[in-house]
Amino acid sequence: MKNPTPIVEIAATGRFLPDNVVTNDDLAKTMDTSDEWIRTRTGISERRIAPDGLTAAEMGASAARQAMERAGVQPGEVDIVILSTATPDRWLPSTACDTQALLGCDNAVAFDIMAACSGFLYGLSMAEGYLAAGRGEIALVISAEKMSTIIDWDDRTTAVLFGDGAGAAVVRRSNGSGRGILSTHLRSDGRLANLLYRPGGGTIDPLSQGVLDEGRHLMKMQGREIFKNAVRNMAEACDLALQKAGLTSDDIDLLVPHQANIRIIEATAKYAGIPMEKVYVNVDRYGNMSSASVPIAFDEALEQGRIGPGSKVLTAAFGAGLTWGAMTLRM
Ligand code: ACO
Repeated sequence: MKNPTPIVEIAATGRFLPDNVVTNDDLAKTMDTSDEWIRTRTGISERRIAPDGLTAAEMGASAARQAMERAGVQPGEVDIVILSTATPDRWLPSTACDTQALLGCDNAVAFDIMAACSGFLYGLSMAEGYLAAGRGEIALVISAEKMSTIIDWDDRTTAVLFGDGAGAAVVRRSNGSGRGILSTHLRSDGRLANLLYRPGGGTIDPLSQGVLDEGRHLMKMQGREIFKNAVRNMAEACDLALQKAGLTSDDIDLLVPHQANIRIIEATAKYAGIPMEKVYVNVDRYGNMSSASVPIAFDEALEQGRIGPGSKVLTAAFGAGLTWGAMTLRM
């Protein structure tokens, strides 16, 4: 199959990580866990935790400013701001609108999407559709996550896994150079919503003293089931995205997977037929930052030269919903 002609490309990326590093040993001081357990089961050594008062919108805006500066894009040139978050700063308005205001993207339409860890891939795909429809020239896709605010810090089975951060990409119409998104495969399965969710605090179980006392507003997860679904669905999504682009795993220069757990990353890479030397990993330093993990990994890989002009990149993600997907790009 012939490689498709990309419609949009990533012009530049950016990231923001809070300064505050929390190590596994730090966590072991306040909960019944150990550095050894966390490292061997997850590959995580430390994560960043944002201070009180630093909002998801501010983190997202910092990442977006860096991406816009690198792309040479002015705030007024942005046509659409798509912000993915599982941790909105407040229920109304969207965190995207707050971020738009911080950035001064006064000519843009701005809205949130909630697709958990797959949010950056969903956002890129939404941006591609909007620009392909001729509704604009430049999109900002931002993922900003303050996971520390929805973690149950008394639950060692989830508290050790997550961290805070934000990543962003400037997306623009491809100029015919062959750079850009080659293929996308996205899916969801709402029947499995209760594997990873926040049961209370929404309209089903509105915020009350009972919700707060029992921690029903915090994240609950069935780790083993999530693990199995993550590997199966990301591996299949990688295969389908490669097929749609007319590529094989041998053509891929770098796999940028969602950073939830090193064992999930290794299993996905194995199924996809990609050796670990060609896989970008930063879960050891940041833990799982939900939808911010992929753009932050992407940005670091670009900065380190692991992705360069002409590189073919496969990216894959998986999260609550369930949601998952994969995408191939030529840079
Ligand atoms: N420290 C020490 N012991 C622990 C900890 C901890 N932090 N957490 C759990 N344990 C214990 C358990 O209590 C259990 O003890 P028991 O045998 O006495 O009952 C034992 O360790 C084994 O627990 P398991 O849950 O079987 O451990 P497992 O090997 O499955 O690893 C993990 C758990 C790391 C959560 C794994 O299942 C996983 O990574 N799942 C995927 C999670 C994930 O990626 N979630 C994010 C999805 S993306 C998104 O949308 C946010």
